[in-house]
Amino acid sequence: QLVSGIELMQDAAQRNYAIGAFSAHTGEMIQGILEAAEEERSPVLIQIGQRAIRNSGFAGLIHNIEFFGKRTNVPVIIHLDHGKSYEQAIAAIQAGCTSVMYDGSHHPLETNISHTKDVVRAAHAVGVAVEAELGKIAGVEDDLSVDEQDAYYTDPAQALEFYQATQVDSLAVAIGSAHGLYKQTPKLDTDRLNTISRQLGIPIVLHGGSGIPDDQIRLAIQHGIRKINVDTELRAAYTEGVREAVETYGSAYDVYPFAHQGMQRMKEIVKQKIRVFGSNGKA
Ligand code: G3H
Ligand code: 13P
Ligand code: ZN
Ligand code: NA
Repeated sequence: QLVSGIELMQDAAQRNYAIGAFSAHTGEMIQGILEAAEEERSPVLIQIGQRAIRNSGFAGLIHNIEFFGKRTNVPVIIHLDHGKSYEQAIAAIQAGCTSVMYDGSHHPLETNISHTKDVVRAAHAVGVAVEAELGKIAGVEDDLSVDEQDAYYTDPAQALEFYQATQVDSLAVAIGSAHGLYKQTPKLDTDRLNTISRQLGIPIVLHGGSGIPDDQIRLAIQHGIRKINVDTELRAAYTEGVREAVETYGSAYDVYPFAHQGMQRMKEIVKQKIRVFGSNGKA
């Protein structure tokens, strides 16, 4: 069934687990993620990011999640990932998202606060949860020096000011994770995370979940992470599956084995992540 992000994140906080936020790019990926969640008896969040919107279209993907999500026996959140404007957040809510992210992290603090406030006001009027971002979550291609890294990390005092001004439901923080796969094993700043989490008292979101070792993920959950975004590892598993199927069935004019094998490989990763996040058996 479809649920609002607000209640589910509260449950995650009470029972000390994190919700897997899986990025879907196609209809098959949506079905695979939902099947994995059902098999693990886990609440799940499916998110649509900017690349998926550009390539597969916004409303089609959201309506697809809505259609299958309603028929799923575990709680499902439909979420907009890295929402780029107030207008996009409103369009996402109208299309059926039960949770939206507005990412104003590239703007100066005052602008980020003012845009986030607008999104919160509109979303809360219709019971939709809002995630915001503070600090810069790097891409692995960014290759930051240690000094640069520190300037990019979320400042706890600023995070508190941001939360008090905006009343967001959850906050994505920069604590050493990055989008994509890592060149070196990342080291999450759990002290910083702990300070932010205790000061704000709201669920904290970890982006760049692909490639982070399981022990660091578990530690981050102990320190207040309640939603973990995973994209690249799902795309990697899906494309691996398709490659395997091409090797086996490449000469056949048949669409099914490719999508099926991609989905199977991706499902295995989703189930593995769900167990590491501790959300299995929680639905
Ligand atoms: O969070 C980032 C996702 O991997 C999607 O990337 O910014 O190209 O949409 P994108
Ligand atoms: P990864 O691609 O590193 O899993 O990051 C996903 C993410 O944060 C999407 O918002
Ligand atoms: Zn992200
Ligand atoms: Na990553």
